[in-house]
Amino acid sequence: MISVNSTNKCFYLEAESFSYVLRVNEIGFLTNAYFGKRIPRADLSYPKYDWNVATGGECCAERMSGLMQEYATYGLGDFREPALIPRDERGSRIAELAYLDYELLAEKPEIRSGIPTAEGRETLVIRLGDRDTGLQVKLYYTVYEKENILTRRAEIVNETAGTVTLEKALSLTLDLPEAGFELLTLWGHNNRERQPERTPLRHGRMCMGNTRNITSHQASNFMALLRPETREESGEVYAAALMYSGAHYEAAEEDEFGRTRLSMGIQPEGFAWTLQPGESFETPEAVLCYTDRGLGQMSRQFHDFYRSYVISPRWVDRERPVVLNSWEGMFFDFDEARLFDTIDGLKDSGIDTFVLDDGWFGARNSAEAGLGDWYPNRAKLPGGLAALAERCRANGLRFGFWIEPEMVNPDSDLYRAHPDWAIGVPGREPVVRRHQLVLDLTRREVLDWVKQTMADVIRESGASYVKWDMNRPLTENFSQGWPAERQGELLHRYVLGVYELAKFLTESFPEVFFEGCSSGGGRFDGAMLRYFPQIWTSDNTDAESRMKIQYGTSLVYPLSASSNHVSRVPSRQNFRVTPRETRRNVAYNGSYGYEFDIRKIPQEEFAAIKGDVERYRSLSALIRRGDLYRGSNRTESNEAVLSVVAKDKSEAYVTFYAALNCPKHHFVLKIPGLAPERLYRVEGKNLVLPGAVLERVGLTLPLLSGDFASFGFRLTAED
Ligand code: GLA
Repeated sequence: MISVNSTNKCFYLEAESFSYVLRVNEIGFLTNAYFGKRIPRADLSYPKYDWNVATGGECCAERMSGLMQEYATYGLGDFREPALIPRDERGSRIAELAYLDYELLAEKPEIRSGIPTAEGRETLVIRLGDRDTGLQVKLYYTVYEKENILTRRAEIVNETAGTVTLEKALSLTLDLPEAGFELLTLWGHNNRERQPERTPLRHGRMCMGNTRNITSHQASNFMALLRPETREESGEVYAAALMYSGAHYEAAEEDEFGRTRLSMGIQPEGFAWTLQPGESFETPEAVLCYTDRGLGQMSRQFHDFYRSYVISPRWVDRERPVVLNSWEGMFFDFDEARLFDTIDGLKDSGIDTFVLDDGWFGARNSAEAGLGDWYPNRAKLPGGLAALAERCRANGLRFGFWIEPEMVNPDSDLYRAHPDWAIGVPGREPVVRRHQLVLDLTRREVLDWVKQTMADVIRESGASYVKWDMNRPLTENFSQGWPAERQGELLHRYVLGVYELAKFLTESFPEVFFEGCSSGGGRFDGAMLRYFPQIWTSDNTDAESRMKIQYGTSLVYPLSASSNHVSRVPSRQNFRVTPRETRRNVAYNGSYGYEFDIRKIPQEEFAAIKGDVERYRSLSALIRRGDLYRGSNRTESNEAVLSVVAKDKSEAYVTFYAALNCPKHHFVLKIPGLAPERLYRVEGKNLVLPGAVLERVGLTLPLLSGDFASFGFRLTAED
């Protein structure tokens, strides 16, 4: 709920368990007066940490320095991280943003440039302006009361008489009047995405982010401030995640006076955006989450938010396809006969969709050629994709296929015809990564060609599933379609091109299910979830690695968003051998599928698929909708416990996993998240126990056999 008190000039943004209070101070600046556990709607206009105001605020040079700035600017005596650096025609980068007015909108406006935002209703817009130049900033706030989420973004409007170039335009500044936080971030690399890292915040700035122009494996666009005592189910958390899929930036800063500032937005390195008079620039939306009940509660708030307002309602609660994807099983080594054989073999297996991965088009027999030539390779596939889709139908299956629309191999007909369509500096030998270059989606003719070509391929394929991959970060950022002074816009314009393409394809084919992918989970973010209800979490399908990757992913994103496949052993990624049950149990905690050559796996593994898929289908609604409780996690302990509890607490699905077997160690499995008084039947045991007993006393496990052991079971309320 949003309310405004024009007498004390306070804005109250209240969710069920937090208050976020803004205040216009005595000298006309918008300040953050409070963010934290819900408090009564008090008049917060009494001076607290706003010392300059307390001392009169008359000293011009210092009037910004003590402020809890709501959207920090540069060069006015606040030497902490600015959100905005606008360069005007004189070369001045100063903007002193004073409060102008506000508006309360009944409906949340979309971002006009096409950056996806969460659905929402009532939105507060506060307008700030620079008295000198006239530059304006509009700050947008939407509260999600039940989910305890606040979204924020900024719009910079050039109301000046000349050109303004934005050198930095972040989505938020969040000033907290306290220090001593710990910082939680997610780092990683290909095959090892979203590894949590928690560290005390030092004095100075600690930054994350990337310049690759994908969300990246290296740094997720997520950052959280925790109290040192914060644990899984206790303690305060201030978290933020960005609805953006390009180069991003996050910083946490503890200053010398014991204050903390969190900043987040588009990566300023390499960014410059020119605004002519009257034009405006809208930043991506940041999703803020507060709780005093630990990381588990933070995740549940994020999950509810993404499920209710971000992932398409068309898909969020639908049964997901259970696929067999060809990649790990066949790589580029297939032809029509082999694929027909595989498809025939899947009849009655329980798997409902066959997905043909990379290698079906152009001269694509390895990663070296063919990207851009989106017509079936008739030598391998005489009947094209349509024949495969037909074969699937005949076997009671659906068909899906892989595309990488943003890319081109230099060895392709497309590149030979249009070398200038690739991003790169003319005359400079390009760095080729994975033998490929990135198409310049900032150019209308290129984007239109990609839109049309992809639409044709999808239409002609008869597919109901598309895996959209993106395997190369952007380098040599230069577009032949833009003049010298606009080159700093390239990365962001590229991301806008990706959104336009995704919107066009998902709207043109509403019944086609699109899965996101970027060399595994390199583009996993809220904006992508708007188009892709699930994203391939990692190319690493080894169950032990996945326990950590999926844990990090689950900190922010719901289990249903995480695409998990059972693959063969030894693992293709690290040669580890894990039991089939464990590969399955780990993959169950998300959207489920397979990734192997059915002709090469042991007969008993193939025979088990049917039962395993049936079991998954019986659990999938709970996994899609339930609340996730993590008893312990594999990044901090040998054992991991996951409990997905129905919203009405009527049932739960519990997964237990132990990496290494400890002789004589009897683990006590305590199950969080149940209704304390209700009686739960433990599947497979003749046991009925109250939730509080399962949580506090727990179940003592028998000795496990071997390493990487796991099991999963259901709890069903008796009443
Ligand atoms: C990326 C994806 C894989 C697979 C290959 C195909 O690495 O993450 O799942 O699709 O590309 O080239």
